[in-house]
Amino acid sequence: MIDFKEETAKLLADLIAELRADEIREMIEIPQESRLGDYAFPCYRLAKARRTAPQSIACEIAGHIAAAAIFERVEAVGAYVNMFLKKSALIGAVLSAAASEKERFGGGDLGGGRRVIVEYSSPNIAKPFHIGHIRSTVIGNAINNIYAFLGYDTVRVNHLGDYGTQFGKMIVAYRRWGDREDVERRPIRSLLAYYTRFHEEAERDPALEDEARLAFARLERGEAEERALWQWFRDESLKEFNRVYGMLGISFDSYAGESFYSDKMDRVLALLREKGLLRESEGAEIVDLAAFDMPPALITKKDGSTLYITRDIAAAIYRKEHYGFDKNLYIVASQQNLHFRQWIKIIELLGFDWADDCVHIPFGLVSLDEGTMSTRAGRVVFLEDVLNRAIERTREIVIEKTVNTDNVDETARQVGIGAVIFQELSNNRIKDYVFSWDKILNFEGETGPYVQYSHARASSVLRRDAPALAAALADTDALAPALAGSESAYALAKLLYRFPDAVREAGEKYEPSVVTRHIVDVAQAFNKFYHDERILTDDETEKRAKLALVSAARQTIGNGLRLLGMAAPERM
Ligand code: ARG
Repeated sequence: MIDFKEETAKLLADLIAELRADEIREMIEIPQESRLGDYAFPCYRLAKARRTAPQSIACEIAGHIAAAAIFERVEAVGAYVNMFLKKSALIGAVLSAAASEKERFGGGDLGGGRRVIVEYSSPNIAKPFHIGHIRSTVIGNAINNIYAFLGYDTVRVNHLGDYGTQFGKMIVAYRRWGDREDVERRPIRSLLAYYTRFHEEAERDPALEDEARLAFARLERGEAEERALWQWFRDESLKEFNRVYGMLGISFDSYAGESFYSDKMDRVLALLREKGLLRESEGAEIVDLAAFDMPPALITKKDGSTLYITRDIAAAIYRKEHYGFDKNLYIVASQQNLHFRQWIKIIELLGFDWADDCVHIPFGLVSLDEGTMSTRAGRVVFLEDVLNRAIERTREIVIEKTVNTDNVDETARQVGIGAVIFQELSNNRIKDYVFSWDKILNFEGETGPYVQYSHARASSVLRRDAPALAAALADTDALAPALAGSESAYALAKLLYRFPDAVREAGEKYEPSVVTRHIVDVAQAFNKFYHDERILTDDETEKRAKLALVSAARQTIGNGLRLLGMAAPERM
């Protein structure tokens, strides 16, 4: 697609010897109000350099570039040069790019095939996959999709919490109160009940904790009995996780979790020792981080067992050696900020120059109206139950609203799950939010159902005249002038034009909500266009032009939805 901002920067650069083209590009603004043009260039900096009034510089520049082919008009207003693009030029660029790039429209080759590891979801096995896990799972999946779309070679890693002292507790609890059949019937719910009981009873009987430590030590040594129990817990848990991933349409390239690194600990300890970073402290080993204003990192416990942070250090080193990453991203809750700051600092202290390429991408809390949930207290809301309830509720709404009832099941699934995903990705990730059914299933608000419905509406318009659509997409070149007079067509085209920028910004900031918000804007602009204009007019050129624009809008909304990990229904 023609980069009009770049073209504008070049035109300005010819007139401004004091600034480089890339500096000029940085300075070009996109005004909030369309009456101030498509681009605006402030002249303050130049005024300083030239010791001239910015107003007169603005006038001078405006006079020089007014005749350029990409502009309809150029105005000097105060210290600003306001530039209005030729509407047909912008519309034409959008129509042809969307028609030729299709599923790739909005993406590109920014990444040049460089490798990015995206670690997300990473639940703990034998524990519920609860509503709190939705954040890392859905945000991480969207970030992965965005990076892949931008031309990076992404690797999706699920760093399962499948190791650690809690498995000692789990093993002890199962031995004491467990029942094999129970576990086979309802694996996680049963294991959770035992685990909860462990904590209750351990308050009265501290000896249980010692027993659990022992069981974990045996597991770490690879004793057959503990190992088999652990493996069984892991297999059963993964079955349950995969059921939920299946519902969300999410998959991973690697499930190498914490246990995968259990035989890579000695190397970490040796490296730390070699650099003189390990200190003994009451029988345990730590890395002192006081110089960096952080509490010490506990690397091995008194009994020699390693910890969560030790495994993260090993995992990062392994990933660098095995995958040769350019970036190693961790989508993990902000409660773990300190943990990540600690171990990334340790990677740096070990002398690895790629420490900066490890990026923690934190997010805030999700709570339900009933309050947040905790595994310990046993008050848990399973993600699978939430998704099923979303599907059920959507089914009721769909049956009530829809004309087309042959695919209620499929629609309810796509829209119900989509609604949950969309709400998750609507706000800046760092914000806490409250999960609310009324908000997410509203078909009129800024919601998943609304955006999906807009996609279905566009699809339905396009179905009404397939031959005209085919002709339009085969040759978009001459169509744009037929739309240049429509305010709502231009407003829509401008948003479509900016979709690639929104995707890039979302990638740079690790912020999928930039895409979410952009496609809400596109859906609203599309619906306005749909209401303002008769699309299937008698004038063949005008009809084709309008269909090409509807098709570009549909493509953009669809590409955006898929980036977020949602379905883009053809009918609703
Ligand atoms: N399993 C951890 C949890 O549920 C999250 C793991 C995050 N990833 C990491 N590399 N530490 O809290």
